[in-house]
Formats: sequence, C-alpha cells, structure tokens
Amino acid sequence: MAFSSFWKYCAPLSLLLLLSYSQTARGQAVQAENVTVLEGGTAQISCRLQNYDGSIVVIQNPRRQTLFFNGTRALKDDRFQMVLFTPRLVRITLTNVSVSDEGGYFCQLYTDDTHHQVATLSVVVPPEVPSVEVKTEAVEGGEVELTCVSPRSKPPATLRWVRDRREIAGVISQQENGKTVSVSNTIRIPVERKDNGAALSCEASHPALVGQKRVRHYSLDVHFAPTVKIIPPQGILREGDSLSLTCSVTGNPLPRDIQWSRVNDTLPERAEKTGNILHMSRLSQSHNGTYLCQAHNNYGRAADHYTLLVYDPGAVVETHSAVPYAVIGGILALLVFTVICVLIVTIWCSVRQKGSYLTHEASGLDEHGEVQEAFLNGNDASQGKKEYLL
Ligand SMILES: *[C@@H]1O[C@H](CO)[C@@H](O)[C@H](O)[C@H]1NC(C)=O
Ligand SMILES: *[C@@H]1O[C@H](CO)[C@@H](O)[C@H](O)[C@H]1NC(C)=O
Ligand SMILES: *[C@@H]1O[C@H](CO)[C@@H](O)[C@H](O)[C@H]1NC(C)=O
Ligand SMILES: *[C@@H]1O[C@H](CO)[C@@H](O)[C@H](O)[C@H]1NC(C)=O
Ligand SMILES: *[C@@H]1O[C@H](CO)[C@@H](O)[C@H](O)[C@H]1NC(C)=O
Repeated sequence: MAFSSFWKYCAPLSLLLLLSYSQTARGQAVQAENVTVLEGGTAQISCRLQNYDGSIVVIQNPRRQTLFFNGTRALKDDRFQMVLFTPRLVRITLTNVSVSDEGGYFCQLYTDDTHHQVATLSVVVPPEVPSVEVKTEAVEGGEVELTCVSPRSKPPATLRWVRDRREIAGVISQQENGKTVSVSNTIRIPVERKDNGAALSCEASHPALVGQKRVRHYSLDVHFAPTVKIIPPQGILREGDSLSLTCSVTGNPLPRDIQWSRVNDTLPERAEKTGNILHMSRLSQSHNGTYLCQAHNNYGRAADHYTLLVYDPGAVVETHSAVPYAVIGGILALLVFTVICVLIVTIWCSVRQKGSYLTHEASGLDEHGEVQEAFLNGNDASQGKKEYLL
C-alpha cells in the first residue's frame, strides 16, 4: 500500500535521499537525491546544501555538460528550469522526461571539484494497452495461435492471457529495444464451433500501473462450414395457398448467397427469392417437387431439401377430416370399454357382499341362485343387508 501511494502521489517526482555528504574544507556539504519519474513526466533534481557560504554551485547532466552555473543557465535546453536557489536547497526541474535523460546528475560546489554528489534519474515506461496478433486463424477443429504484444515498457511489463478468469499459459519472450523492452506472450488453443465469440483478454501489469492493468479484449473468431435447414410449413398445402420457405443458415463467415433450386426442374415462374426466403403464392400442383436450399463459404458447403406436395382442395378435406374421426372413434371405444369394466366390477363386488351375508344366514340356498336373485333384485338385497346389521 505504501508503495502504491508512493507511485500515486509522489510520481513523477520522487526517490531516495543520498545519505552521504560532500564535505569541503570549510565544512560545506552538498547532498543529492535519486529520482524516478514516469516517461513524459517532470523530474525534480534537488541538491541540498549545508553550511553554504556563497560558493558557486554547478549542476551537470550525465554527459557532464553544465546545466546551471550558480543559477545561470549554461546549456540551451528549455526543459530544464531552475526553480529554487536558497542557501539550503538548489532545485531544478526537467519536463517531458524521456528515457534518454536517464543517468547521474551532478551537484557540486565549484570550489571542490573532487567531491560531487550524483542524483540518479531513472525513467519508468508503463505499457500501453497491448495488441493482439493472430498468427494462425481459427478454423473449427484446429488450433489458433494468438500473440499478445506490449511493444514498449521499462521495466518489462508482465503479460497474461485470461479466459473465464483463468490464466492460459503461454510462451513469453522479451526483446530489448534500446532502454525499453518489447514483451510478447503467445498461446495456442484448440477451437471448436462453440468457441466462436468466446472472450479472451490479455492483461499487461506493471509496477507503474499500481495494481491496475491495461487490458486488451479479444473474441475468438472461429471459422466453420455452413449448416442449412429449411423450416417446413405447418399443415397441408392446397391449391391456391401461398407458401414461404425459410432457409435457416449458420456458418462463419455467414454465407452471403443462398441458392434455391428445384431438383430436376426449374423454380416455378412466380417464385420470389428475398434473402433466405422463397415465397410462392397461389400454389398449384405444378409446384410439386423437391426444393433445395444451398449455401457455401470458404470452409465448406451445405444443403437441405423440402418436398412440396400440393393437394387439390377436395382431397384435402378427406385427408384432413380422417384424423379427427379416427380420434373421436378411439375415444368413444375407450369410453364404452370403461363403462363395461365399471359395470363388471360393480356387479362382482355386490355379488361378493351378498354371498358373505348369505353364508351367515345359513339359508342353504344355492349360492349361484342367490347371485342371480341379488343381481335381479339389487334393492331388496341391500335392504336385507341393513336388517341383518341391525
Ligand atoms: C542512487 O542510484 C544509484 C544508481 O542507481 C545507486 O548506486 C545509489 O545507491 C542510489 N542512492 C541511493 C541513496 O539510493
Ligand atoms: C551563487 O549564487 C548564490 C545565490 O544566488 C549567491 O548567494 C552567491 O553569492 C553566488 N556565488 C557567486 C560566487 O557568485
Ligand atoms: C516530449 O518529448 C517527445 C520526445 O522525447 C516529443 O515527441 C514530444 O513532442 C514532447 N512533448 C512535449 C509536450 O513537449
Ligand atoms: C431426378 O432425376 C433423376 C434421373 O432422372 C432421378 O434418378 C431422380 O430420382 C430425380 N429426383 C427427383 C427428386 O425427382
Ligand atoms: C402433387 O402432389 C399431390 C399430393 O401427393 C398429388 O395428389 C398430385 O397428383 C401431384 N400433382 C402432380 C402434378 O404431380
């Protein structure tokens, strides 16, 4: 957290104090601070003085060219400004810092050339949002090779490929490019049709980004051969009806041209093609036939067919009504059967009851005779039962 705050609040100005002193014979001292700054930012280079007695203070760049000679600009570079000159502190700023400004800046008292202090300026280059290069294009059943590239960072950025919040391990390579580094991370993953559109991302992290990430989103573009399916109309078609056949097509890339045709025949004269719909109005039996829908892309072709039979209206009525009659007949037969079953069960139950009472009465009558009687005089039998119970 402390480190984060440091980057957040103190960058581009910063770093550590040099703790040693350059002592002159008269007890004067100068002290320089190391500085780390983001590229393009502003660096403050400070020289702290102790027991300053009015000597000339010289500040030099890493090539030992004098920038300021006791407060007077010596090198013509407007990016350097002297912002402070007190007996305790001499401070210059450098705007729009680039990596070529890196190095040791010298603070020294002119009277004592041998003792100088060096403020080391370090420049940090955070990565931009990385880019994704497709090395081999994704075809169903194959493998896709993707390279995530962060062309410039210092120190090197860390690149991760992520899918569904899980990291995909890749091959990382770094290439030094002057003071900055180009980093890449290459993955190879098998792809299927269902992976088309799957979301991947490449995340670049870097100390200067304070835990945040520069993220490039990438969705897989998996190529596959088309599929086609004709959606058939519902019900029976009669002369005079109209018909729209829809050909449902998939594929990546999606086939642009859909061909309609009739097997062994030409399409009917009045058939209209709009997009993937074939429309025919006022059907007649001359429209009978097998219709084909075909589509292709670079990865293959596909076709589906539909056989159209146009019935004359008279024939359709019979065919149409045959179904309900059969159903109604079936239901009626089932009803009759159920009624018969219920009857048989009812009779059987009452016979059993009557039989058991009779054995108690011990009348000696033939059981079958009683059954007959019970069946013929159901009411009497039940009354007899009541009497017996009382
Ligand atoms: C300043 O930076 C230089 C060079 O990187 C290093 O040698 C020195 O130790 C640093 N000084 C402090 C006080 O960190
Ligand atoms: C150097 O500059 C300081 C601050 O302006 C001043 O006090 C000092 O007299 C100067 N020294 C010389 C030798 O000019
Ligand atoms: C900062 O420096 C770079 C080159 O180092 C230059 O291209 C750019 O224009 C400069 N920007 C400003 C605002 O001066
Ligand atoms: C098309 O014609 C060929 C050859 O005459 C025949 O074998 C085939 O069954 C026909 N197909 C249809 C759908 O009529
Ligand atoms: C068209 O199909 C219907 C239904 O099978 C058939 O009754 C009729 O004879 C056919 N007509 C022609 C011209 O093939």
